[in-house]
Order: sequence, then structure tokens, then C-alpha cells
Amino acid sequence: MVDNTKLASLRHDFDRAGLRETDVNADPVEQFRTWLDAAINGGIKDANAMTVSTVGADGRPSARVVLLKYFGAEGFTFFTNYSSRKGRELEANPFAEFHFFWPDLERQVSIAGSVAKASRELSEEYFLSRPLESRIGAWASEQSSEIASRKTLDERVEFYRDKFGEDVPLPDNWGGFTMTPDRFEFWQGRKSRLHDRLLYSLDGQGHWQIARLSP
Ligand SMILES: Cc1cc2nc3c(=O)[nH]c(=O)nc-3n(C[C@H](O)[C@H](O)[C@H](O)COP(=O)(O)O)c2cc1C
Repeated sequence: MVDNTKLASLRHDFDRAGLRETDVNADPVEQFRTWLDAAINGGIKDANAMTVSTVGADGRPSARVVLLKYFGAEGFTFFTNYSSRKGRELEANPFAEFHFFWPDLERQVSIAGSVAKASRELSEEYFLSRPLESRIGAWASEQSSEIASRKTLDERVEFYRDKFGEDVPLPDNWGGFTMTPDRFEFWQGRKSRLHDRLLYSLDGQGHWQIARLSP
């Protein structure tokens, strides 16, 4: 059983690779593509899972895992219920951070910026590509609100299954959020906690500048 002594002694060294300024792509989106590709091809489960941090109107942060579904020069998109806690927080305060951790590669990436709702076309295209059960689930779940019991949820699933059959449309309060990043950090674990950290930030001309951060 885990106890605090066991926890305190839990550690391992990182020694797989290094990260040099000369090795990385000048475009952080392409650098991210290289690392995500390595994670997917390396067989990492849920390689596109990322923690999304948001901040509520009371100034308190909250975080949860979602799946990155699209990315490129146009931004980084995940899909959710707009009435959920994260949805409400992002509508009030669009600043967010996405965070990936790929333990087997000893890498983490943080991507920060502001988000906006994706177009209805993109949300619909993605929604209609989801399995039937997931589409029904999006209607049945008033995500982040309290429900009386599991039975209540199951009954809502049955209700929407009967209502829509195979033809489940995109709910009004469901869709994508797309981040336009202004900061990326690529982190590669190194020996003795002397890790490599490369920070990309935008200068006044809209060009990416790379700086090294102390580990
Ligand atoms: C691996 C994984 C992937 C997930 N993907 C999503 C997702 O893409 N969209 C989503 O809304 N919730 C997703 N969830 C559930 C969220 O973590 C979260 O519980 C839910 O969105 C409610 O968050 P909120 O109350 O903070 O808004 C995922 C959870 C896990 C563990």
C-alpha cells in the first residue's frame, strides 16, 4: 500500500534523449507534429489526450483531460459540451493551456493561447463522424451538472435513442473550441533533473522566437 515514505522515494532518472535548439523546427506547430507523430507511432495509448486548464470568473483554475482532434496553422481543436464547466469558463475567459505528457518518451508539451468556438460546419463534420452511442450520449449528458442517479442518465440515453434512431443531429450546445497558440514549451527529461526546456513565443512581428528555460 502506498504511504508517504514510499511516495517520497518514488523516482527515476530520464535519459532517453536531449533537445537542442539546432534540432527543433522553427515552426512550433511542425515541432509538435513531429513529437505527436513519435508518440502515436511509439504506441502510446491516448497520445492525443491533453489536460486543458481554464480559469473561472472567481480566478480559480480547473483542469481535465480531453482529446485533441484537429491541429495545424489554423489552431488546435477539441470538442465538448459548451454548457460544461470548461465551456462556461472558456466563454467568460478564453485563455487556456493545453498540456500533453508522454511518459514513455520522457516528454511534455504545453500550448497556451486563447480559444474561440469552432465553426458549426467543423463541429457538425466531427460530430457526425462519431459512433452512434457517443452522439446519443452528447444529448443525454448535461455535462458537469448534477444528476440524481445513474438511472436518470440511462433513462435519458433511452429517451434520445427512441427520439432520434440512427439520425442524431449536432446539439446546439456541443462543438469545438479552437486555440490560437501564442506560446509553446517543449520539455525533454534529462539526467539528474537537468532537463531541456525550449520555449517558443511570438515577437512583436508575429515571428516565433526560441528561448531555453532553466529546468
Ligand atoms: C482520455 C480522456 C479523454 C476525454 N476526452 C474528452 C473530450 O474530448 N471532450 C470532453 O468534453 N470530455 C472528455 N473527457 C472527459 C473530461 O475529462 C471531463 O470529465 C468532462 O469534459 C467534464 O469536464 P468539466 O466538468 O471540467 O467541463 C475525456 C476524459 C478522458 C480521461
